[in-house]
Amino acid sequence: MTYLTWSDSLAVGNNFIDNDHKKLIEMVNRLHALMHEGKGKEVLDKVLHNLVTYTQDHFRREEDLMRSLGFADYQRHKDEHDKLLKQVLDLQQKFDSGAATLSIQVLHFLRDWLIHHIGESDQKLAAAARGR
Ligand code: FE2
Repeated sequence: MTYLTWSDSLAVGNNFIDNDHKKLIEMVNRLHALMHEGKGKEVLDKVLHNLVTYTQDHFRREEDLMRSLGFADYQRHKDEHDKLLKQVLDLQQKFDSGAATLSIQVLHFLRDWLIHHIGESDQKLAAAARGR
């Protein structure tokens, strides 16, 4: 069973952003599947690291696009990225140090954040990119 399914309601109509989001969703699903298979900390840590790295790259790509558009909502959008990154880097540190284990709540949090951020902020960015 797929944890988070890509659908047209998540599409923002910008090729690179949609492709990045599909990849992010795929990675969240992979993490979810591995958790359910009861994989150990090492495997989960590695996949989480890949997810965090990909998220950083993706945010950078969106922020580059926003700057090139002179996007009026840049700072607010970037603040959302920065806040999320800070949260996941904190979590990652706790997992790495053994102070916490990866829980389903973390995945729910990532899923809800993604759906909300894509539906609100990334939609606005894609609309601005279309209207240039
Ligand atoms: Fe974004």
